[in-house]
Order: sequence, then structure tokens, then C-alpha cells
Amino acid sequence: MKAMRDGVLRFFDQDYEVKKEWYVTDSTKKMFYNSNVDLSSTLPVRWRDSFHCRMAPDPPSPQELPPPCRDILIEYSKQVTKLGCSLFELLSEALGLGSSHLKDIGCVDGLATIRHYYPASPQPELTIGARKHADNDFITLLLQDHIGGLQFLHMNQWVNVPFVPEALVVNIGDLLQLISNGEFVSAEHRVVSSSFGPRVSVACFFNTGMVDTGKIFEPIKELLSEQNPAKYWATTMKEFVRHSHSKVFDKSSMLHFRI
Ligand code: OGA
Ligand code: NI
Repeated sequence: MKAMRDGVLRFFDQDYEVKKEWYVTDSTKKMFYNSNVDLSSTLPVRWRDSFHCRMAPDPPSPQELPPPCRDILIEYSKQVTKLGCSLFELLSEALGLGSSHLKDIGCVDGLATIRHYYPASPQPELTIGARKHADNDFITLLLQDHIGGLQFLHMNQWVNVPFVPEALVVNIGDLLQLISNGEFVSAEHRVVSSSFGPRVSVACFFNTGMVDTGKIFEPIKELLSEQNPAKYWATTMKEFVRHSHSKVFDKSSMLHFRI
């Protein structure tokens, strides 16, 4: 985890001239570096840069990855995938299903990784690190640092998620809510700006994003009954993600899939 964080700092500490080679606003690309792509349409302004890289399916070749974090990104993604597999086994069992159920239906098919860099903000009250949203995936494994700033919405109140050394935050995403028919509820969260920084985080999303896998996701049949009918429509990951991009990424994107 420390090596991953150091790699992120090395990437963002590079000269602007080097980093701009990676600058892309098209989020369907496998790899892109950007900042405030929707600056003109939404406020408050996000005070951060992000570097995205899809590691599965169809991982990039090592040469395609930026040298400052190349090796560690490959290793970190491998370990996160392993941990994700264990968590999906536990989540399957928690739903009363066989332990490989969530893996078998495709929850581990995709891994999108994002490194965020939140500089110290001279006027934190005028900016936000990450706006209120729920993640458009099954689960997210998040590495944050000692600066803090991550908050979850709990009973209509923002609650700080303290930094715990050597721990990851596990976040339930909207798609797990959909396939579990609301048994698991996605967590709305945000990151507030700070006058301290930079803050660095690494979010690993279990989803296949805009990749066309053809797989259909719907409330798991074994969880349904006459008393508990399906609450959500079937969808593909691509349709789900496309829809969440067209929204401001809050619970309203789930409403669209509500029966
Ligand atoms: C995200 C996210 C939180 C963080 O990337 O979806 O919520 O701490 N990140 O950077
Ligand atoms: Ni998030």
C-alpha cells in the first residue's frame, strides 16, 4: 500500500509537460488523466486530478503504463483482485448463496483503478474533493491517506471515515445493490477539500465499465420470492455505467433502474 501511494505521488509529481501526454477527456479510453472535465456544467469545482487505468478485462501491456507507477500498479491490481475474490465469496455467503456465486456471474470480470491527487486548497470551502455519489460498480476497494476527508452519508448526516493505517475502505456500489435486490445498499460518499495536502487515494472499482461483455445483471433469482419480488430492471454493465455518467452520480441513477 505504501509503495502504491509512493507510485501515485511519483506520477503526479512529474512535470506538467510529461503528464499532459496522458491527458484525455474521453472516459471510454483504457487510460486517462484529467481534471474537472465537467467544469463548466457543475459546481462546486472539484479540487483534484485523476489518473484512470482499466486493468481488467484486457489489461494494458506494461509498456503502456506510466513508468513512475508501472510495476507497483500491476502488483497492486493483482493483490486487490485476490482480496476482491475473497470479499465476493464472503458477500455471496452473506446472501445465503454458494461462495462462488458472485464470482460466477461476473463480479470479478473487470477492475478499473483510479489514482486521485487532491492538492491543498487555499479556500477549501469553495471546492470539493469528490461530490456526493455512489460508485457505479459492485464493490470498491479504496486506499486513502492520513489527510482524511472521506465522508459517508449516514442517516442524512455526513460522517468522517478516519484514516486507518494499512487498511482499505470497502465500499458497496450500486450494482451490488441491484443484483442483491437491495439486500446490500450502496453507500453515498464524498471527499471534502482540505487546506492540507496533497491527499492521495487509490480507488479500485470492480466493474467492466464501457467494455461490451454482453452479460446481463439483474436481481439474483435465488433471492426473489413472492414476498420479495425484483425491485430493479435487468441491465448490462455498459448501459448501467453509461446511465450513471449521464447523472451527477448520486442515488438518482439507481432510480432509473427501479421497477
Ligand atoms: C471515487 C471515490 C474517494 C477518495 O473515486 O469514487 O469515492 O477518497 N474516491 O478518493
Ligand atoms: Ni466513490
